[in-house]
Amino acid sequence: MEKIPERNLAGQFDAGHQEYSSFIESDPIRNFLHYPSVIRELGDIQNKRLLDIGCGDGLFDRKLAAEYGTKIVGYDISSNLIARAQQQEKELPLGIEYTVSDPIQFQSTEQFDDAVAVMVLPYSPNAQYVRNFFSSAHKNLKAGGRFVCVVFNPEFNGFNEVIANRFFRKADEQKVDFDFLDLNSKEVRFNAQLAQFSKTDYERGAREGGFEQIEWKALIPDDEGIKKFGADFWSKVVETQPYSLIIAERA
Ligand SMILES: C[S@@+](CC[C@H](N)C(=O)[O-])C[C@H]1O[C@@H](n2cnc3c(N)ncnc32)[C@H](O)[C@@H]1O
Repeated sequence: MEKIPERNLAGQFDAGHQEYSSFIESDPIRNFLHYPSVIRELGDIQNKRLLDIGCGDGLFDRKLAAEYGTKIVGYDISSNLIARAQQQEKELPLGIEYTVSDPIQFQSTEQFDDAVAVMVLPYSPNAQYVRNFFSSAHKNLKAGGRFVCVVFNPEFNGFNEVIANRFFRKADEQKVDFDFLDLNSKEVRFNAQLAQFSKTDYERGAREGGFEQIEWKALIPDDEGIKKFGADFWSKVVETQPYSLIIAERA
């Protein structure tokens, strides 16, 4: 089989940090689909210590810290996004610690109750790299701790149509080009590329990273999102499932 070349998929968020941050802040998919699904999975997160892998500008972390009192450490490879996160922490302190790092370099003296990674693993340069995220989570979790990830669904096939405020195009065997669309005008606000890894790629990465098995779940928007944007807005998301949840638990 032809070797798939490495790509610097992570770098696009550092380069477009301003556009990305401003889009994601009010993005229905992040705020009413991804984040609530992860919170639902984690259960009681009040006063727990959480590791956010690929935390970006800390949008999820601020929500968790403000609403649930979760104690959070977040790391991200993008120095620009971490600078934005740290600036917000300075302006409105919530006790969140941010650091520029990646799953190979990151070290901590504490063990976390749970770990999360919201749309981070699909920006791995290749399928082999995925194991580093699982390995980083595994190493830093307490026994029984869970690593909950949102990934691009390996089985998604709804290309070339508007899905809520996204438009996905298959670029090659593994690469997907996609647009973040303006909610009103439907104009492209940000364009990015991700990798559509297979279920086997993720399951192998989890196993090699130390987790014995993983569970897959579909994502559904929360009630607030449905109320705010209407059932029609979400219907294609629910039908085509562009994203999946992976839940891995440390033995
Ligand atoms: C789509 S953004 C998601 C950010 C954040 N989780 C959120 O919910 O907004 C993907 C993030 O993953 C980060 N990332 C990608 N590869 C990474 C790596 N190898 N190590 C650390 N962060 C990485 C990027 O810098 C970017 O901030």
